[in-house]
Amino acid sequence: MNRKSNTVLSQIGRRTADSPISWLMRTKLERPNLVSLAAGFTDNESLPLEGSRRLLNELLNDESVGRTALQYGSTAGDDTLRELTAMRIEELDKISIDNKTADLSKRMVITHGSQQFLYILTEALCDPGDIVLVEDPTYFVYLGIMQSRGLSGRGISMNHDGIDLENLEMVLESLRRSGELKRTKILYLVSYFQNPTGRSTSLSIKKEALNLLRKYERAAGHPIYLLEDAAYRELGFSGESNSSALSICGSSERVIYSGTYSKPFATGVRVGFGVLPEVLLEPFLRIKSNHDFGTSHLIQKLVLRALDSGEYMKNLAKAQCRYQVKANVMNDSLSDYFPDLVKWEKPQGGLNFWAELPRSMNTGLKSKLFQEALNQDVLYVPGSLCYVEDASRRKPSYEMRLSFGAASEKDIRKGIRSLGNVLKCK
Ligand SMILES: Cc1ncc(COP(=O)(O)O)c(C=O)c1O
Repeated sequence: MNRKSNTVLSQIGRRTADSPISWLMRTKLERPNLVSLAAGFTDNESLPLEGSRRLLNELLNDESVGRTALQYGSTAGDDTLRELTAMRIEELDKISIDNKTADLSKRMVITHGSQQFLYILTEALCDPGDIVLVEDPTYFVYLGIMQSRGLSGRGISMNHDGIDLENLEMVLESLRRSGELKRTKILYLVSYFQNPTGRSTSLSIKKEALNLLRKYERAAGHPIYLLEDAAYRELGFSGESNSSALSICGSSERVIYSGTYSKPFATGVRVGFGVLPEVLLEPFLRIKSNHDFGTSHLIQKLVLRALDSGEYMKNLAKAQCRYQVKANVMNDSLSDYFPDLVKWEKPQGGLNFWAELPRSMNTGLKSKLFQEALNQDVLYVPGSLCYVEDASRRKPSYEMRLSFGAASEKDIRKGIRSLGNVLKCK
C-alpha cells in the first residue's frame, strides 16, 4: 500500500496485519501440487453433501418454512437452534440440571462461525492496550484479532492437561504488582484437542483457573472472564469429551463458551455460537446488530434440521472415524520418515499434530527449513506463529503444526516423507 492511501485509513485499518492464514491458503491455491499440512480445512469426503441437499430441498419445498428461512431472522439467532444447541452442550457435559437448557439458550447467540463470536466478544470487552492471557501456544487467528484490536498478551505455559496453574498465578501476580491487572480482561483457553497442540484441558484445571481469576478480581476492579473455545470438542475420536467450564457450579457469571458447527458438520456453513454471562449479552447483541443483525437464517435452518433429523450425529460419527484413520496415517508416517530427534504426541481428536524439533532448529516462515519444505512442495504452520508477542519470554521457533484435516491419506504420507527428507538433511 502506498503512503497516500495509507493516510485515509483508520487506526485499525492501518494496524491490522496481514493474516498468515490468508497467505497459507493463497499459497496452496496458487500451487495445486503442494501438499498442505498447514491450512485448517476439514476433510472433504466427510462433508454432508447428500444430507444437506435433502434437508435443503425439504426446507424449500415447504412453502411457509421456506419463506421464513429466506427472510431475515433475529440478531441472537433462531430460537429452536439455540435450544437444540443448549441441549447438545448439556448432553456433552453429561449433566442435567433443572432449567439448564433454558438458561443456556437464553444466554446464547448464534454467530457467523465461532470466529465472529470471538471477534465481537473481544471487541465488547477490550480496548486497545488491554490484556488477554492466552495459552502458550494458542490459536493463531485469535492472535490476529488481538493484534488488530491493539491488545497485549501474556502467554501461559502449558502442560499435557492444559495450562500450568502455577504459571497462571505468577503472571496474574506480576500483573497485579505492575498495576496492569486493571487492564486484564480475559483468559482464553482452547480447551479440547487444542489448535495447535492437540491437548485437552481437564475439568479440574478449568475449575482451578476460574478460582484464580476470581482471586485476582478485586485487584483488577472487574471480572476477568474465562473464555473457553470449544471449537474441536466434538472431533474427539472416541466421541467423548470432558465437561466444559459451563458445568462448574456458579460459573454462569464468569465463563464465556464459544462453539461451532463448522468443524463437526461443515466449515462452509459458517455457523457458530456462544454462551455469555447475562451482563454481556446485550452489549454483544448491540455490536452484532451493527455487524449483520443476524447470522444467515437459511443456513441456521439447515443446521437446525440436521440436528433435529439425526443427520448431524450420523455425519459426525463418520467424520470422527475418518479423522481417526487420518491421524493414524500421520502418526505412522511421522514414525517412518521423521528423524528420531523430533518429538510429538498423538492427539485423541482435533485436526493437528504438534511436532517439536531440537531447539537449535528454526521452523519460522523465513527459515531455510520452511523454504526447503516449500521447494519440496509441502507446507506446514511454523510454531512461532502460534505464540503471542510477550516481552517476558523469547518466542519458541523450533516447532511445527501439522494438520491431517484436509489432505488425503496418500498426501499425508507424501507430505510427511518430503518433510522428513528435508529434516534429515539438517
Ligand atoms: C480454535 C479455533 N477456534 C475457532 C475457530 C473458528 O472456526 P469457525 O469460525 O469456523 O467456527 C477455529 C478455526 O479454525 C479454531 O481453530
